[in-house]
Amino acid sequence: MKEKLLEIKEQAIGELESIQDISGLEKFRVTYLGKKGLITSMMKRLGELPPEDRPEIGKLANQIKTDLSGLFEDAHGRIEAKGTEEEFYLDITLPGREPARGHLHPISRVNREICNIFMKMGFRVVKGPNVELDYYNFEALNFPKDHPARDMQDTFYISKKVVLRTHTSNMQIRVMESQSPPVSVIAPGKVYRSDSADASHAPMFHQVEGFLVDKNVTFADLKGTLTSFVHQMFDRDTALRFRPSFFPFTEPSAEVDIQCVICRGEGCRTCSQTGWLEILGAGMIDPEVYRFVDYDPETISGFAFGMGVERIAMLKYGIDDLQLFFKNDMRFLRQF
Ligand code: DAH
Repeated sequence: MKEKLLEIKEQAIGELESIQDISGLEKFRVTYLGKKGLITSMMKRLGELPPEDRPEIGKLANQIKTDLSGLFEDAHGRIEAKGTEEEFYLDITLPGREPARGHLHPISRVNREICNIFMKMGFRVVKGPNVELDYYNFEALNFPKDHPARDMQDTFYISKKVVLRTHTSNMQIRVMESQSPPVSVIAPGKVYRSDSADASHAPMFHQVEGFLVDKNVTFADLKGTLTSFVHQMFDRDTALRFRPSFFPFTEPSAEVDIQCVICRGEGCRTCSQTGWLEILGAGMIDPEVYRFVDYDPETISGFAFGMGVERIAMLKYGIDDLQLFFKNDMRFLRQF
């Protein structure tokens, strides 16, 4: 047994010298020093020896275990030091690592892009309250009480007279009541409707409202302004069409479609085979509205338009699910 022990010792020392990494070391520890290792199993067999030999062999086994443990610790130190050396080895010719930077949410981006286009055309940006009086959201926009047009929008009521604004058109009244013509303003912001969330609905979304009032403003000015906007937002070849529609605060009113950006007007799933996509509502401001803000419809006229930012972003980037904007999944957001 003595020879066997010495043999194990030799073998262990030889092996230890060639070990280069931590996993090799761990294997060594299990094989030799572990609970089921070679030394321990030899110690367990001491009982098989004649009693007078046991003290000597026992002592030898203990000694070998202590020696190997010491060598093991040394090797551990040696391998660890080497690892650190490698970690700190600096190659100054390597390109630097760029720190991770944040960026704008796609909705903020598209919102800014829309505002920039209109700012270049001379529109001023204004912001207003999300919690709004019924008066500004409906009444002064010519939605009479109990008028069925109020059902067009599912309203969150805070109280009888206070709502979460259902559109940014409230800003038409707020601006016009505090400023006389000429005015040209855009009003970006959040709007709220009691819709359940699906691929094309959300209880909160973003709109940009715009309007212009001056002497001699005509529907042709509205068409020119929106055509220029669409050409800058999408591209110069995107066709537009104005469809007659109804809004209480504009007369005449129109809904504006652009040629489908996916199929270029051929007809596809996104445009329900029509070749056209609705992107905004617009019209000439109804003389009724001017009554509420003390403008004289005999001497001035104006146009207004309103668009959904999410809708524009979906068309621009080919996104088919509105909810992606609200889920904050980094895999989605990083693409912008
Ligand atoms: N406020 C309307 C909506 O949310 C959109 C709209 C239509 C705004 C016509 C306008 C307009 O300024 O002239 O559905």
